[in-house]
Amino acid sequence: MNKNFLWGASSSSFQSEGMWKKAGQGPSVIEIEQHGNLQSFQIGVDFYHHYKNDIKLMKEAGLKAFRFSISWSRVFPTGTGKPNAVGVNFYRNLINELAKAKIEPIVTIYHFDYPLALVKKYGGWISRKSIADYLYYCNFLFKEFGNTVKYWVTINEQDHIVKIPQRLGFKHGGFKEHMQDCYQANHYMSIASSLAIKLCHTILPKAKIGPAVSYQPYYPATEKTQDIEAAKTANLLTQKYILDLQCKATYSKKFQNYLKEKSIHLKLKPDDFKCLKEGKPDFIGINYYSSNIVKFLPSESNKGEIEGKPIPKKEYGLYAIQNDPTLPTTKWGWTIDPKGLRIALEQIYQQYHLPILITENGYGDEDKFLGGNITDSSRIKYLKDHINELIKAINENIPVMGYCIWSFTDVISGHNGSDKRYGLIYVDKNMNRIPKQSFNFYKNIIRRLNGDVT
Ligand code: BG6
Repeated sequence: MNKNFLWGASSSSFQSEGMWKKAGQGPSVIEIEQHGNLQSFQIGVDFYHHYKNDIKLMKEAGLKAFRFSISWSRVFPTGTGKPNAVGVNFYRNLINELAKAKIEPIVTIYHFDYPLALVKKYGGWISRKSIADYLYYCNFLFKEFGNTVKYWVTINEQDHIVKIPQRLGFKHGGFKEHMQDCYQANHYMSIASSLAIKLCHTILPKAKIGPAVSYQPYYPATEKTQDIEAAKTANLLTQKYILDLQCKATYSKKFQNYLKEKSIHLKLKPDDFKCLKEGKPDFIGINYYSSNIVKFLPSESNKGEIEGKPIPKKEYGLYAIQNDPTLPTTKWGWTIDPKGLRIALEQIYQQYHLPILITENGYGDEDKFLGGNITDSSRIKYLKDHINELIKAINENIPVMGYCIWSFTDVISGHNGSDKRYGLIYVDKNMNRIPKQSFNFYKNIIRRLNGDVT
């Protein structure tokens, strides 16, 4: 296996750092989104104070890369203007510590925690003004940290941000009510991302930069044409439209027709597409956890259920997204489909011909102590099976740059707070770090596949 392959792990600022609104950090939209769960995010896993120790453990595991995000409002408490020196120092120290341990930092510029001040000022991403503030922030980061950071991720899971209005700063209402604004925000975010890529290429010609999307293959539930068509549509409307825009600088005709049917009118400027063309990503980051099957959903079936079961993700007249009943799931109902990872890599590479970085992949569980140990054999199986499929994909000549497990230590889960753990390292109530069995498993995988041992 290529010696430069980035065997890594991933995290985000709001799920790990703690020190919520302390040390000069400004508020972010997380306080709107996570109302029920705020307390655990306020403390996180206290990465702010434990990063040195965590990096020691990363070194012991043999990690080649660590992906973390910078909290925009820790650097610019009001989203723009004067930087907060304490926050900047924290990230400088963290990056230097990684450099000492010879671990490549992969920096996500923005992972969900958008500064609340910008929402209050002009509505945040729903306004074109947001593009300039994002670029101001990126420019600062590239100049401040560009001499040590080679890998950058512009935006984490834009596909999710635009479908969850609270992540855009709306206090009330779902996607259906805010559709016009959500798609407009998506347009501005895509331009912001492409301008950041262009800026990065100018300031840091040796750096590599790209977006990270959540990606899952959608399999048609049956061989019926209408289910095959439905699966394609689900793919287009949940993930492909964003990749088309960012990698091919285009809205497909089918997506344009969909917007028309929904009476969505995007404010576009001819120059927008020039920006998108000029800011082509160096790689596509993908967060892969699971796959789904898709069935055609007739418009008249407005009961919101298929065969008596409620369908969480649906578009009447188009598709219903469901679990494949033949595949196992996690305790939270996420389908476990290792082959889906290879299929996702194949699909993305066939369409966009760009290298791929697996920015997240992991298994959420409750993780309990048994005789002083955390025997997370289900996680080990999940990781082993996914890594096997990753290797098959690489052997099929799909250029994969790296694989980052979500997550290195436990962090606070986005949907399920501290009940759901992903880490290779357990974090207890007193913030002690206790390696799980999967820590040793990953350590051995890296040593073996990196060619350190035969
Ligand atoms: C990804 C996010 O969607 O999934 C992470 O980038 C998140 O922030 C991860 O933690 C797992 O989701 P959850 O809700 O199980 O924590």
